[in-house]
Amino acid sequence: MDTSKLTKFYKKTHEEKVSALKEAGVISLEEATLLTEKGLDLDPSVGEHMIENHIGNYSLPLGVSTNFVIDDKEVLVPMAIEEPSVIAAASFAAKIIGSAGGFTTAVTDRLMIGQVTLKNVEHIENAIFEIEKAEQTILERANEAHPSIVKRGGGAKSLETRVLKADPEEGTPAFLVVHLHIDTQEAMGANIVNTMMEGIAPYIEELTGGKALLRILSNYATECLATATCTIPAHKLKTGTYSGEDVRDRIIEAAQVAWADPYRAVTHNKGIMNGVDAVVIASGNDWRAIEAGSHAYAARSRQYRALSKWHANDQGDLVGTLTLPLAVGTVGGSISIHPGAKLARKILMDPDAKRLESILVSVGLAQNFAAVRALVTDGIQKGHMGLHARSLAISAGAKGPQVEKVAEQLKQAPHMNLQTARDFLKELL
Ligand code: MEV
Repeated sequence: MDTSKLTKFYKKTHEEKVSALKEAGVISLEEATLLTEKGLDLDPSVGEHMIENHIGNYSLPLGVSTNFVIDDKEVLVPMAIEEPSVIAAASFAAKIIGSAGGFTTAVTDRLMIGQVTLKNVEHIENAIFEIEKAEQTILERANEAHPSIVKRGGGAKSLETRVLKADPEEGTPAFLVVHLHIDTQEAMGANIVNTMMEGIAPYIEELTGGKALLRILSNYATECLATATCTIPAHKLKTGTYSGEDVRDRIIEAAQVAWADPYRAVTHNKGIMNGVDAVVIASGNDWRAIEAGSHAYAARSRQYRALSKWHANDQGDLVGTLTLPLAVGTVGGSISIHPGAKLARKILMDPDAKRLESILVSVGLAQNFAAVRALVTDGIQKGHMGLHARSLAISAGAKGPQVEKVAEQLKQAPHMNLQTARDFLKELL
């Protein structure tokens, strides 16, 4: 990728942006045509096979975040999101972090979890003994239920049992849960895992004398974690009247608040998910799964807490880390069908699933840094006002160059609202 072609990307017109992507070697001529001719929409003949009662497409703006350096490799990050400022914030954060060496990531083995949950198990201890004794056979039967994943180098790898204790106060009996850890290779693996769970349930019933109530993947992907770290020298944080050390300390304190207070933690984590979701959506992955898993992970200490941590190292640098369960895939589902997802994959330079995890968790950390840095200094409204003015101008009916003109006047006006935007537009016409 020739990043010199992407300088001041945000200042370019749509056509210039597309041709810069082409000249930088990020997309082909054919893909550039898709973008200029609005060909990213899903064809109705495809859409109607993806969901039921299909009546049309609902589109989101697709943009790219610039300046990301992740594990020493530059990458342009496609993001599908309706919220203004998110892409600008990610690019801004990535620029500061990139100038300090970028993001370093670590990704665990990618094991998905499948659950068979049993009820009516009379002798739980005995059932656990039988399951553990039959572990190899259970794994073999799971793999026989989905032989193609074994051929691709994956398959069921290990097993674990969990007991959900009876709670007389809640009126719940005990349940026995069997977890299988499954290597789904490049797939997110929901279908693979569900097929395996349904495949082994009768044998597990036989072994335990219980009845299988649920046979399904867990979206709490604790065996598929990705961590990003960044280290920012304090002098790079200086802004306005705040010294770099001030900004560093205020970011650390804000993270402490989000660690201690669930009300703040939810908003803090929402900022992280602004970035993560936008890339998950662009890449054609299941963002509900990533959302649900991430929030459960935030509550793993039995209190909902900040997902990221910020501290100062011995040199006085600001160090941020973020770990997320990221069960994403690069094949399957809509990934190879949706034209937007195919293009996103190309922009991301054909990542494998581990690289995609590294990118996602880095974008989450960048987004968190940008949001918290703004909150503890100028506040976030300052940065939002320009975009808010532009969307008011568009709502008032401004077109093309009128949008910028009306927005500029709105920014100077004492009241930034739709009526004022309409008045400015009328004066222009
Ligand atoms: C807005 O979409 C996200 C923020 O509220 C995140 C945060 O408060 O950390 C700015």
